[in-house]
Amino acid sequence: MKIFESHVHYDDERFDKDRDELLEKLNEEIDVVVNIGADIESSKRSILLSKMYDYIYAAIGVHPHDVKNLKDEDLLKLEEMAKEKKVIAIGEIGLDYYYDNSPRELQKDWFKKQLALAKKLKMPVSIHSRDASKDTFDIIKASGVREGVIHCFSEGKEMAKEYVKLGYYLGIGGVLTYKNARKLVEVVEEIDIEHLVIETDGPYLSPEPNRGKRNDSRNLKYVIAKIAEIKEMEEEEVAEITYNNAKKMYRI
Ligand code: NI
Repeated sequence: MKIFESHVHYDDERFDKDRDELLEKLNEEIDVVVNIGADIESSKRSILLSKMYDYIYAAIGVHPHDVKNLKDEDLLKLEEMAKEKKVIAIGEIGLDYYYDNSPRELQKDWFKKQLALAKKLKMPVSIHSRDASKDTFDIIKASGVREGVIHCFSEGKEMAKEYVKLGYYLGIGGVLTYKNARKLVEVVEEIDIEHLVIETDGPYLSPEPNRGKRNDSRNLKYVIAKIAEIKEMEEEEVAEITYNNAKKMYRI
């Protein structure tokens, strides 16, 4: 089975204890991994991981939680980092009005700046959006960026269709396996599999039966199984199509 992990954070401190051990073996089960940056430092660590492991690629960007710490010159730092060979996307970037860890005006400002960077560099984006549905969509639409993924997609099927129309993929992860996932199940039912990619968002959001534990890419099999069940497809087929989708999206 070919498996593409489209969004994970192996630079997170929760992997400090056993990162090397885990990543040395992971490639036996997972074919390609995209490690996602969340601030300047984790973007650097993401690049480092991509240099250490052939099968790991890096995305760089600053999460809305952390934009309050940015200075203007950090945009140049990101642009420099984006030139590294195995950096294949800008992310994760977006808006989070649930936690509001950074002021909303700053979140919007840096979201726009990082989208503009992606556009300039012709790179896809990995988008984080929580409780900010309309602003996220409007800003993406206005940015002109038409390639990337709405990571950990959490909206309803109508918004799903709007994003697909714009050319975006939907990132589907562990949440799909949760008991209260009705809305996301509907999205997976409704949207053609050609527009879906799979992700863990590890160390967060472990699927059932490992909910609550640290998450890593080996748990993608539970997400694949759930999509296969919903779409009445073979697991192999789900893995292969989402693998090809992610490859196309990230241009690997
Ligand atoms: Ni993430």
